[in-house]
Amino acid sequence: MIIEKAVIPVAGLGTRLLPASKSQPKEMLPVGRKPVVQYVVEELAHQGLRDVLFITGWKKRAIEDHFDESPELVQRLTGKSQWELLDALDPKASHLHFFYARQKHPRGLGDAILYAEHFVAESPFVVALGDAIIQYRNYSDLLRRLMGVHLKHNASATIAVEEVPDEELGLYGVVKPKEGADPDAESFEIEDVVEKPSVEDAPSHYAISARYVFSPIIFRALRQTGQTEGEVGLSHAIRQLIRMGAPVRCVKLKPEETRYDIGNFETYFKTFIHFAIHDKECGPAIREFIREEMGLDV
Ligand code: UTP
Repeated sequence: MIIEKAVIPVAGLGTRLLPASKSQPKEMLPVGRKPVVQYVVEELAHQGLRDVLFITGWKKRAIEDHFDESPELVQRLTGKSQWELLDALDPKASHLHFFYARQKHPRGLGDAILYAEHFVAESPFVVALGDAIIQYRNYSDLLRRLMGVHLKHNASATIAVEEVPDEELGLYGVVKPKEGADPDAESFEIEDVVEKPSVEDAPSHYAISARYVFSPIIFRALRQTGQTEGEVGLSHAIRQLIRMGAPVRCVKLKPEETRYDIGNFETYFKTFIHFAIHDKECGPAIREFIREEMGLDV
C-alpha cells in the first residue's frame, strides 16, 4: 500500500500574528522568497504525495489563488525570457492535485481534520500543518519515514516528535513513551499525550512536531473527543485513540532536521531571518546588515 493523500489545515484565525494576519492567511506570510505554505506543499510533492486537501476558512482564498495556474503571469515572464522566475513560480508540485474544503468555524485543529473524512475515505493519510516548515538541507525525508513506520506497524497514528528544551514544553503536546519503549529506535509507541505541560508534569521532552500520519479511525476518535473550550483538540483525539487500544507511534526528527514554526512573532522573525541570511543572492548582504545593526565588527 502507498499513501497518496495529504491534508493541510490552514483555517485557523492566526490571532497570535495579528495584525499581520488580519486580512491575509498567516500561511501566506513570506519566509525568504516563498510563502510558508509553499514549503509545506513542496515537501509533500518531494515525498511522493499526490492529492492535497487544504482545509480553508475565512479570508484564506489567497492560498487557492497561489496554487492556481497564472497564465497572464506566465505569458509576461515568458515574453521577457525570465526563466528563473518562471521556475520559481512553479511550486515544484505540478504533479499534485489540489482540493479544498472549508471549515465552517475555526473550532480547532481536530475539527479541521474532520472535514477530510470524505476525501481520505478508507486510506491512511498525512497531515502537515500549513504554518510549519521542516527542513534538512533542501528536503527532509521525515514524511517518508512516518509513512513507512505507519504501514509497517499498522498504527492508528504516527506522529513526528522533536526533542525540545524545558522552556518550550509548555508550547506543544508532549508524548509519553510506552514503558520499555526506546525513543532512539526508528520509531516508538506512546501511552499518552499531555497538552502544553509544565516542566514538572511533562512526561518527556518529545514535543509533537507538525507532521502526522493517521488511519481513518482518527475520525471516530475525533467525534468521541468532543469540544473543550469550543475547540476539538487533536492531542485529545490522539489520547482517545490510545484509550481505544489503537497503537500510536512516534518518529523523532533527526538532529539535523529543524522545525521552523511561524505561529507567533518571535518564531516567525527567527524563521524569516534564518531563510534570509541563507538566501543565495541576498544572504551575504543581509548578514552584513545584521552585523551592522547589532554594532558588531564587520
Ligand atoms: P494553530 O493553533 O497554530 O493556528 O494551528 P491558529 O489557531 O490559527 O493560531 P492562533 O492560536 O489563533 O494564533 C496550527 C494549524 O492548524 C490550522 C491553522 O491554520 C494552522 O495552520 N487550524 C487551526 C485550522 O485549520 N483550523 C482551526 O480551527 C485551527
